[in-house]
Amino acid sequence: MPTASFHFPKGFQWGTATSSHQVEGGNTNNNWYKWEQEGHTAHKSGLASDWWGGRWKEDFDRAAEAGQNAHRLSVEWSRIQPTPDRWDEEALERYRIMLRGLRDRNIMPMVTLHHFTDPLWLGELGGWETDAVVPLFEKFTTKVVEALKEYCSLWCTINEPNAYATEGYLRRHFPPGKSDLKLDFRVQANMARAHASAYRAIHALQPEARVGYALHFRPQEPAHSWSPLDQLMRNITFGGFNTPFPSAISTGVLKSPLGRISVPEAKGTQDFFGLNYYSVDTVAFDLRKPEELYSRSFFPEGTDLADAGMNSNTPEGFFWAFKWAVKTYPNLPIIVTENGIEDSTDRIRPRYLAQHVHAMWRAVNFNWPIKGYFHWSLVDNFEWERGWTQRFGLWGIDIETQQRTKRPSADLYAAICKENGLTSEMVQKYCPEVYEKLFPA
Ligand code: BGC
Repeated sequence: MPTASFHFPKGFQWGTATSSHQVEGGNTNNNWYKWEQEGHTAHKSGLASDWWGGRWKEDFDRAAEAGQNAHRLSVEWSRIQPTPDRWDEEALERYRIMLRGLRDRNIMPMVTLHHFTDPLWLGELGGWETDAVVPLFEKFTTKVVEALKEYCSLWCTINEPNAYATEGYLRRHFPPGKSDLKLDFRVQANMARAHASAYRAIHALQPEARVGYALHFRPQEPAHSWSPLDQLMRNITFGGFNTPFPSAISTGVLKSPLGRISVPEAKGTQDFFGLNYYSVDTVAFDLRKPEELYSRSFFPEGTDLADAGMNSNTPEGFFWAFKWAVKTYPNLPIIVTENGIEDSTDRIRPRYLAQHVHAMWRAVNFNWPIKGYFHWSLVDNFEWERGWTQRFGLWGIDIETQQRTKRPSADLYAAICKENGLTSEMVQKYCPEVYEKLFPA
């Protein structure tokens, strides 16, 4: 018998999240394939986790055995619509088979329609820089929902519009590798418009659908709370990255410190808030960083950091993210659409997982309407510009052999899913170093 436990409400969804280009392999008709060929990434995606080759079956078996009752995956636009005037019915059928595969394992699917990748032809038409994308995305959405609605009623229109725009139009890590703030916001405005028309198209086809988008929410703290310049930089960073898209959805105006774009059709177009939370940043004013608009983001000394130092173990930021979400979207259900950490040796992941589940439990106990949690990720997968240098999987993959190796965190997460909660025994077994923090004597 566990000596102490933190339980979740009955029916809570516990799952993992993946995305098409990161796991499927062999995607050669999208902007990321081109980006990889041009040498912008640490490695090429290649076979990725070989899901298109059929390994989704063994990975879904793993998820089911590990007690997961939900899985979030994305469909690849460039496969389904290889050219503007052609649908690939065979590709759609494969996705139907995959979703049936989830249902057969008692796993509820959530489908994301756009997760960072665009068909090459879309880029040639101007991509997300022009509002011509809006009816194109709506047509694609309609096609997908007609084909998959038998198996899925939980939809995520666009993954992280804020990260897509920032990485592709400011920081140059993602295609098209531009650095232009005005374009960054124009892209987000077009994404808000496309999200809104997809929201309506889905509801027209499936009235019972629940539709939302997933925001990358990264809380920032000023390096010195007494410094007005650090405060200012923190507010600019926070308001530039986290809040423009949510403001479009709650008020119909995409607001940023640099301006506003009106998107009235986006107001109220979500049935849940999709939260992707990884880490907190500390922000300071720095004259040596004009290219970063005079701000510098870093982790303070002593922070519990992962392999690559990209994410830190800061569960208080997760709690804070829920608090922010409840204030921004009162009464709206919240689904954690991603949360995880890069950690090839599973050194930090067990405590990251336990502490984040604990922070979520605290939030649930305020009666904040949190309905589910998708850990990123089920298996190692292609980490965008960072290639295979970062490993987020509960199961590791040797990409030469495609061999899977279970990390200890997979057992911890299985125990959480099966218990519908976290117990002191689990913490004692998998991450005793945080026992005192979670279960103070
Ligand atoms: C993205 C995922 C990515 C993860 C870890 C998220 O922002 O949605 O595609 O793998 O971060 O880097």
